[in-house]
Amino acid sequence: MKKNKILIVYGTRYGATTGTAEEIAKVLQDEELDVKVVNLKKEKVRDIAEYELIIIGSGIQINRWTSKAEGFLKRFSRELENKKVALFVSSGAQGLPDHDGDPEEIGRARRKYLEEKASKYNLHPISMGLFGGIWDYNNMPFWAKKFMGPLKLELKAAGIKETKPGVYDTRNWDAIQNWAKELAKELANPPIINGEMSELAKCN
Ligand SMILES: Cc1cc2nc3c(=O)[nH]c(=O)nc-3n(C[C@H](O)[C@H](O)[C@H](O)COP(=O)(O)O)c2cc1C
Repeated sequence: MKKNKILIVYGTRYGATTGTAEEIAKVLQDEELDVKVVNLKKEKVRDIAEYELIIIGSGIQINRWTSKAEGFLKRFSRELENKKVALFVSSGAQGLPDHDGDPEEIGRARRKYLEEKASKYNLHPISMGLFGGIWDYNNMPFWAKKFMGPLKLELKAAGIKETKPGVYDTRNWDAIQNWAKELAKELANPPIINGEMSELAKCN
């Protein structure tokens, strides 16, 4: 049987989105799906016609997606309108206080980084994931290190995983895996709305 082809493209500044994209790919591959992962900083995508689902991810910095991920949305916006699409971001909102984040801040992040992005490009994603990220104090700009000094103390005090000295990882792997599993289910069983397959489910 022909396997569903899935493309995951992403932009990252500090590396969190790489790990998240790879974890999503692993879950989808375990579901027998054919997945290609592209770091947009390293590789250009010229054509998306062959893919049934495109997953687009980005890290967030000062409320912005990376320019590569934003550029992908801009370049392929017309085609993406008629494709199954899922979006995800790596964000500081998903972490602290008390590890899973402040619900108000999470709501704001979801609206600003995912819902507004989808509507800007006229997309109707089948799913949108807000995930945690990395605070890498060895690799951030000087101004940010200074500005984010107090946060470092909070991360330490909260016992957030320090993967290397000065690197704090707020990603919740269970949440990432569950999101990917739900996506795989959605592909296998497209939602039926009013007795008919949704327009998106009919794509491809
Ligand atoms: C200088 C700086 C600014 C940030 N600004 C935001 C922000 O505005 N909103 C947010 O949710 N997360 C913010 N973050 C957290 C990042 O989203 C997090 O570090 C994530 O891992 C970035 O993804 P990446 O590692 O794939 O680049 C910021 C992080 C840094 C270092």
